[in-house]
Amino acid sequence: MTAHAHAAAPLDLPAYQHSLFTPHYQPFEGERWSLRLADMVLCPGYWTPPQLVMGMALLLRTDASGKTHTWMSMSPMETESQALGCLYASGHVVVMGLGMGWAAANAALNPAVSQVTVVEFDPEVIQAVEQSGVFAQLPDAVRQRVRIVNADAYTFVPDTPADTLLADIWLPLFGAGRAEEVRRMQANTGAHKVYFWGQEMVIADRLRRAGLALTADTVAQVVAELELPLIGLAECEDYAEKIGLAADKWLKAS
Ligand SMILES: C[S@@+](CC[C@H](N)C(=O)[O-])C[C@H]1O[C@@H](n2cnc3c(N)ncnc32)[C@H](O)[C@@H]1O
Repeated sequence: MTAHAHAAAPLDLPAYQHSLFTPHYQPFEGERWSLRLADMVLCPGYWTPPQLVMGMALLLRTDASGKTHTWMSMSPMETESQALGCLYASGHVVVMGLGMGWAAANAALNPAVSQVTVVEFDPEVIQAVEQSGVFAQLPDAVRQRVRIVNADAYTFVPDTPADTLLADIWLPLFGAGRAEEVRRMQANTGAHKVYFWGQEMVIADRLRRAGLALTADTVAQVVAELELPLIGLAECEDYAEKIGLAADKWLKAS
């Protein structure tokens, strides 16, 4: 689990601190993608209260209409929502979506992980991460475990089957049909452990629609229905509670 210590910060607000690796990011300006640093931002966590982040790096993409979206950032929401996957990954890990390389770097730092294959379909993102020097900050032995492949997450088949699949290729946190997309990636990669971005929203949404309370038993029931070997319940004793905290903040009532 991500360990949070609330150190003193300007404005007497808790500063975001955690035990996972946060790279230093060099700014990047590409044709569609840019990597920027924000001096000081107050951000809600995925399941924790708002915290102050100093020097927060963000990955932005400008779409065809000229609108700019934040695809990834070092905010508590983004890192907390991927931490369980990094902490409980093992063996050969396939990471779908490079983004800022945060999940890939933290998976590679996990001693239970032997190899990380990162699948990214946009060469400009690969260039941004390379220029930002994210993986260069890892110890040599850890860096050597990471391989970046320019391919599509929906069709990628690794040379050697994966043990763990970490998938984060989406812009909105919650999307209908996401479990089906992840099942396809799991079938292609052969992974027997899966963590996908926003899986807690999918679980909470199904429970809300079924009018069921959020408990470890009902979460287990939904996970079985999703037919995905999701990291969460077995690894994290308060997983149902965490899902509730995240869904209260991030899953809009519909
Ligand atoms: C939210 S970011 C990933 C953030 C990453 N998990 C991290 O920790 O920094 C999503 C990434 O997925 C990539 N992506 C989106 N669709 C994809 C696809 N079909 N195949 C491969 N990469 C894809 C985007 O270009 C982007 O780099």
